[in-house]
Amino acid sequence: MHVTIRPLATEDIDQVRDIEIEAFTASWPATAFKREIDNPRTTYLVAYEPSETEPAEVAAEPAAESDDRSGLVDNLKRFLTRSPRTARSGEEVVGFVGMWFMGPEAHITAIAVREVRRGEGIGELLIVGSIREAMRRGSQVVTLEARVSNYVAQSLYEKYGFTNVGIRKHYYTDNREDAVIMTTERVDTPDYQEKFTQLQQGYTERKGEIHITLA
Ligand SMILES: CC(C)(COP(=O)(O)OP(=O)(O)OC[C@H]1O[C@@H](n2cnc3c(N)ncnc32)[C@H](O)[C@@H]1OP(=O)(O)O)[C@@H](O)C(=O)NCCC(=O)NCCS
Repeated sequence: MHVTIRPLATEDIDQVRDIEIEAFTASWPATAFKREIDNPRTTYLVAYEPSETEPAEVAAEPAAESDDRSGLVDNLKRFLTRSPRTARSGEEVVGFVGMWFMGPEAHITAIAVREVRRGEGIGELLIVGSIREAMRRGSQVVTLEARVSNYVAQSLYEKYGFTNVGIRKHYYTDNREDAVIMTTERVDTPDYQEKFTQLQQGYTERKGEIHITLA
């Protein structure tokens, strides 16, 4: 797994916005990513991986005259499953997480992975990055809300020690679905840090080296 985590950069915004639109319903208020980059109370991290080929090259290939139709189809498939824009040259953003810091609490405001890349461990990597960022900033707990029906997300959070501490009734405006409020135990304790180290070791054994750069 080559996916790496680093803070959001201005050049990533188009791709991150695409991922936000793809992951959340139209009713989700669009994030003002440009403003959030400069907000000292928030951190946005992106998961990205270097692309093997520039999109322009991939896009040009299907147009070329050739009898090798299977090659063309393969190229077209590769082109269609890529994000339409790349940030820094050769970097494809495949997921992001947003966090907001208030007093002792780090709150995860959004997390999403590009649909075609789900189930590969990228969401988990973003959670690892978020918890590391919370620790770096001296937060005591990490909290978030999830749709009661979003078992995939809840299962990911539970793995990192989040537990269900309450319900916000009709929290989501599109279908008035309830949100489950989840929080970690204190992350600034040796006990949690030990568990967190073990979880990261487990991740490394399954997926490979973790590469995370924080601000
Ligand atoms: C939630 C989300 C970020 C998870 O990202 P992901 O990259 O697919 O997840 P990972 O591959 O890292 O999986 C991590 C854990 O998530 C859970 N998970 C992932 N896919 C799952 C599935 N299809 N069924 C059940 N659990 C699943 C598992 O606990 C998994 O751990 P495991 O590999 O040890 O079983 C992603 O599904 C997503 O973007 N969903 C749409 C947006 C969203 O719902 N965001 C959350 C808002 S609260």
